[in-house]
Amino acid sequence: MEPIVDIDFIDNRTPEQAAACDTHITTESNTGKTRKLYIESYGCAMNFSDSEIVSSIMHGEGFDTTADIAQADLVFLNTCSIREKAEQTVRNRLGQINYYKKKKPAMMVGVLGCMAERLKKSLLEEEKIVDLVVGPDAYRDLPNLINEVDGGQKAVNVLLSREETYADISPIRLNSNGVSAFISIMRGCDNMCSFCVVPFTRGRERSRDAHSVVREAQALVAQGYKEVTLLGQNVDSYKWVSEDGTEVVNFANLLGMVAQLSPELRVRFSTSHPKDITDEVLHTIRKYDNICKYIHLPAQSGNSRVLELMNRTYDRDWYLNRVDAIRSILGEDCGISSDMIAGFCSETEEEHQDTLSLMDYVQYDYSYMFFYSERPGTLAARKLEDDIPLEVKKRRLDEIITKQRETSLARNRRDVGKLHKVLVEGFSKKSDEQLSGRNDQNKVVIFDKKHYKRGDYVNVFVHDCSVGTLFGEAVD
Ligand code: SAH
Ligand code: SF4
Ligand code: F3S
Repeated sequence: MEPIVDIDFIDNRTPEQAAACDTHITTESNTGKTRKLYIESYGCAMNFSDSEIVSSIMHGEGFDTTADIAQADLVFLNTCSIREKAEQTVRNRLGQINYYKKKKPAMMVGVLGCMAERLKKSLLEEEKIVDLVVGPDAYRDLPNLINEVDGGQKAVNVLLSREETYADISPIRLNSNGVSAFISIMRGCDNMCSFCVVPFTRGRERSRDAHSVVREAQALVAQGYKEVTLLGQNVDSYKWVSEDGTEVVNFANLLGMVAQLSPELRVRFSTSHPKDITDEVLHTIRKYDNICKYIHLPAQSGNSRVLELMNRTYDRDWYLNRVDAIRSILGEDCGISSDMIAGFCSETEEEHQDTLSLMDYVQYDYSYMFFYSERPGTLAARKLEDDIPLEVKKRRLDEIITKQRETSLARNRRDVGKLHKVLVEGFSKKSDEQLSGRNDQNKVVIFDKKHYKRGDYVNVFVHDCSVGTLFGEAVD
């Protein structure tokens, strides 16, 4: 595991996950197009996946992607609004981009994604450098919007849609290791968790045509990809009904359809919602060897009163019952991770202790942990007072992080002395003599390279671990 990056966020993902979710992403595609697009993605994997759709649309408009911002004719920031800090990061970045724009005044700058949707045209007034503002459901309109900017105007489209899933657009894979890829299976969210801005920035939940998901996975298999992650804010409420109403596909069905494509393809998914994850889904995971035994099941809090204020629509007992179901159907070794929010409105010390005791019970393999950040327009911002002092939020978050580090280490120690099937993603960060990959439970495993390479499945005997990494030896 990486060290704590800052108090607001503990980063214990693989470098690829971190790259996909947090920092910016850019890669080159050089197919002789006349103009260059530089695109950075912030926030969650959905945004990263959207940037691949945007790149595909822009490719059709005569843009290649570039990894060098100085070369760019068009700069896109695909942004996140989830916490105040996420938006501040983007504003700081716009300040830096100003430096390039001064050198190259013709450079166009667009803000896409959740911050575009939240702030709409006021972003044009607040950030003078911005030429276009485009919400997550309006990417098909990019060609028109670019035309407007080419014509000397500023352009905005932040219309949300009830239908758009970009099902027919083949994403251009950005920053790909050629081994794993994201596939969006749905968009939006209908769960009004009181702290969360996503329903406002991403609109209503809609599920993508199941056959288009399968076709995309099939195309990835044909290109040699070995792992797909099916993405949605709440994958368990996936439900696609064919136009004539004869076909109904739920998430368990979809998982099975993708898993059947190839036994060599690993299938992952994120995010599961505790209120919706069914035993049918758990049995499907058990049925297929290539569906990874790993579930991201964000709890947010371990206290039922706080969960009610958060409008999560489950309580502590319900959550623990789902964890028990995972353990009984998929076994003790199934990986479980969580998201936790410290210091939500009116949370008492005892209620915070409930979060720590829930973590003790579940024994998460890892968690993403945050302190509460009030977001304008959300239910909590309108109805509840953000009354926990910052230093108390930070101290509680620290306690949650400390607990998670203990639990991660304990869980990793269980893996020592066992054989793990690892999908190689590339070299380890520290040495080209070592490879890095992940086991079924999504844990990073490092081992000596020998004759193995990226994309191989390798049996690794794990002999040591740290809080975030397993170390082992390939067994031929
Ligand atoms: N759909 C996912 C979460 C997406 S947002 C789910 O329901 O679990 C990712 C995480 O950001 C959330 O799980 C939550 O822990 C955190 N988060 C969301 N809004 C937040 C806020 N206002 N302050 C702090 N953390 C927040
Ligand atoms: Fe936000 Fe809740 Fe939807 Fe997750 S389920 S995106 S936390 S509203
Ligand atoms: Fe952020 Fe939007 Fe994702 S707010 S977390 S980029 S859905």
